Amino acid sequence: MKSKKGFIVLTLVVFLFTISFVYAQQKPQDVYKLHWEGAKFPPTEFNHKKHAENYKIECKKCHHADPNPAEKVMKCLDCHDPAGEKAASVGGGIKAMDAYHKQCIDCHKKENEAGKAAPTKCNECHKKA
Ligand code: HEC
Ligand code: HEC
Ligand code: HEC
Ligand code: HEC
Repeated sequence: MKSKKGFIVLTLVVFLFTISFVYAQQKPQDVYKLHWEGAKFPPTEFNHKKHAENYKIECKKCHHADPNPAEKVMKCLDCHDPAGEKAASVGGGIKAMDAYHKQCIDCHKKENEAGKAAPTKCNECHKKA
């Protein structure tokens, strides 16, 4: 009797653990509106799905500080804060705007040299709604 109860409890615990693990798995949104409180320019639309799947850019190219992006990533803003006040060891000492601009625009410039048409002008990314 006792061990049967124990077995049921154990099964339940394993079940709940599995469920919580599945739900804890991070999934990116298809499209982001990148923005933060107090920003002056309109939000930038970033199509995560297209960048990862259609343009076939490796996760690590963008999620450069995460050992295994397929499992877990941190947000850029966790390390690169808008004011750039985080320690160099955490955020490389560069503020969020520079982190985004350098990563997004540098790649777009390179792609365009190879004949693509990725946005590099302010209002192509910061589109008024
Ligand atoms: C071109 C750059 C780029 C590529 C390539 C990319 N990501 Fe992202 N990813 C981002 C940005 C930007 C965000 C938005 C959140 C943020 O600002 O950090 C994001 C968000 C995420 C999130 C949600 C994070 C959260 O806390 O909500 C996950 C999970 C994720 N990406 C996983 C991946 C995986 C896995 C791959 C590869 C298959 C990948 N990403 C490829 C730039 C990229
Ligand atoms: C866990 C903290 C962390 C996260 C998350 C993170 N970074 Fe960084 N980033 C750093 C550190 C530390 C440096 C400086 C050392 C280096 O280059 O790796 C840096 C440097 C950079 C640089 C400068 C590289 C160069 O060539 O000078 C860019 C651009 C950048 N990050 C963009 C991003 C973007 C965009 C995201 C989100 C997709 C992001 N980072 C997420 C910590 C992080
Ligand atoms: C490693 C390269 C790379 C990085 C990093 C990158 N992109 Fe792109 N991006 C591309 C390519 C390739 C295209 C497609 C160009 C084409 O189809 O001609 C593109 C297209 C776009 C477009 C227009 C089409 C679409 O998919 O919506 C937007 C907007 C855009 N990128 C925003 C961003 C933003 C914002 C970031 C930074 C968070 C970023 N990209 C980072 C390579 C990159
Ligand atoms: C490839 C896309 C892209 C281009 C081109 C681009 N930006 Fe950005 N910019 C971003 C992203 C992504 C962020 C971070 C989130 C957001 O949009 O506020 C950002 C943030 C900013 C910020 C800080 C937040 C705010 O609004 O106060 C400023 C200022 C800014 N950009 C100005 C500019 C100017 C000026 C230009 C043209 C010289 C420009 N950007 C070109 C993608 C871009």
